[in-house]
Order: sequence, then C-alpha cells, then structure tokens
Amino acid sequence: MIRKKLIAGNWKMNKTATEAAPLAQEIVAAAGRNTDVDIVVCPPFTALETVGKIVDGSSIKLGAQNMHPEAGGAYTGEISAAMLRDLFATHVILGHSERRSYFGETDAFINKKVTASLKNQLKPILCVGETLAEREAGTTLKVVQTQVEVGLEGVSNDDITNVVIAYEPVWAIGTGKVATTEQAQEVHAFIRELLTKLYGEALAQKIRILYGGSMKPANAPELLAQKDIDGGLIGGAALESRSFLELINAAAAAK
Ligand code: PGA
Repeated sequence: MIRKKLIAGNWKMNKTATEAAPLAQEIVAAAGRNTDVDIVVCPPFTALETVGKIVDGSSIKLGAQNMHPEAGGAYTGEISAAMLRDLFATHVILGHSERRSYFGETDAFINKKVTASLKNQLKPILCVGETLAEREAGTTLKVVQTQVEVGLEGVSNDDITNVVIAYEPVWAIGTGKVATTEQAQEVHAFIRELLTKLYGEALAQKIRILYGGSMKPANAPELLAQKDIDGGLIGGAALESRSFLELINAAAAAK
C-alpha cells in the first residue's frame, strides 16, 4: 500500500491547556515512536503550545482546527497560518462541517484557507460531506464533488500530495451513527476518481482520504480495511487516550 494510514484527533472545543497536557502525554508515551501510522492531534488554539511541547521529539504531529486565510491584520479573534507555524503546527483542519454550518463558511472561503495553508507549509485536512437531507435527496456525490472541486481550486500538482481530504458525512458526526462501510467506500472511491480527473492517476493514488463521523475502536477495523479509506478524523474517541490508541492500533493492523 503506497498510502500510510493517518489518524487525526479533532479535540474540538474540549480541554483547557491544563487538561490537554495529560492526554497528550499519554498519547506520546504509548504511540510517540509509532512510525507505522501518521498521527496528528488537533487541540484547541489555547492548548497548541502546551501540546506542541509535549509532542516535540516524538512522531506525533500537531494540528490546528481552523485558521484565517489572510496573513495578518484587522481580523479580531482570528489566527493566521504564521501563528500556527510559530507553534510548530504542521496540519490544520479546514472546512469542518461545524465551521460550515455554525459559522457560515463557504467553499470559496475554505478554498482561500486551503491555498493559504499550503503557502505556509501547513498541510490542510479539507473536510467534505453531505447532510442527512442531501443524502436523502440523492445529492451526496454532487455535494461532495463541489466541495472537493471548489475547495482545491488553484492547488497545484506540486502541492496536492500535502493535502489530506476527510470525508465526514454530517449525519454521522457526533451522533454515534456511523456510515456503513459500503456508504463510506462509495464516496471515498468517488473522491479518488475526482482527484484522478483533476491531478492524474499517480498523484491521486498518493492522496490520503480519511473517514470521519463516529469512528470508534469497534467499527474502525472494517472501515480502515476499505480500499480508499486511508485513516480517520476522530472526534469523540480522540478525547480519551485509550480509545484513540486503539484506533491507532487498528490503523496499523489495517495497513
Ligand atoms: P466524531 O467527530 O468522531 O465525534 O463523530 C468527527 C469529527 O467531527 O471530526
């Protein structure tokens, strides 16, 4: 398999810096030398520095959950790519469905973030996925196509392998309702096809496509065994070291 599996923990708006430290320490102690799987933890902004110091020197990478596309200026409350790089973040989650639905982020705005992140040597984890209404209306693939195409506008062949895509059906996020392996694999294969059209077969085969949405140790092995599922973006199960470590082990076993 040419794609190394990637397990990313999205801690969302959970954990103060004080609370984040022991979780990060447990992950480093158990998986800090793991090179079979790429591991990224994405704490809230306020815990980035603390967690960054803890993962420093291990194989665990640091990611943020959002950023602003501009380099700096009058954007009260926002965080730039350079600020994240200064704390040694290597990844950034962009276009998460919670950002899209609660904060009105559009594909065009998310695209600006994607290109800004790449310009600053941050690897974007671009999230896409349909709502329940869109799935029921039969428009899943169309919705995902637009999110991928617009999200990646202007991303060159040189940059595309630094992009990670996360397919997260909105109806599966935080609901305990996981997509079936068939449902997930269908969309992953569709995204891979789309990437092949945009970037050619060789590059498309190198791009990681993660699944997200109630991935847990119990359902992970089956999902991770699918041909086009290259890892997971984990919410709830990333908040506890035991379940997060089990997911890392599941990814290692699936490679
Ligand atoms: P969940 O969240 O694992 O809690 O469903 C995934 C995500 O939103 O990235």
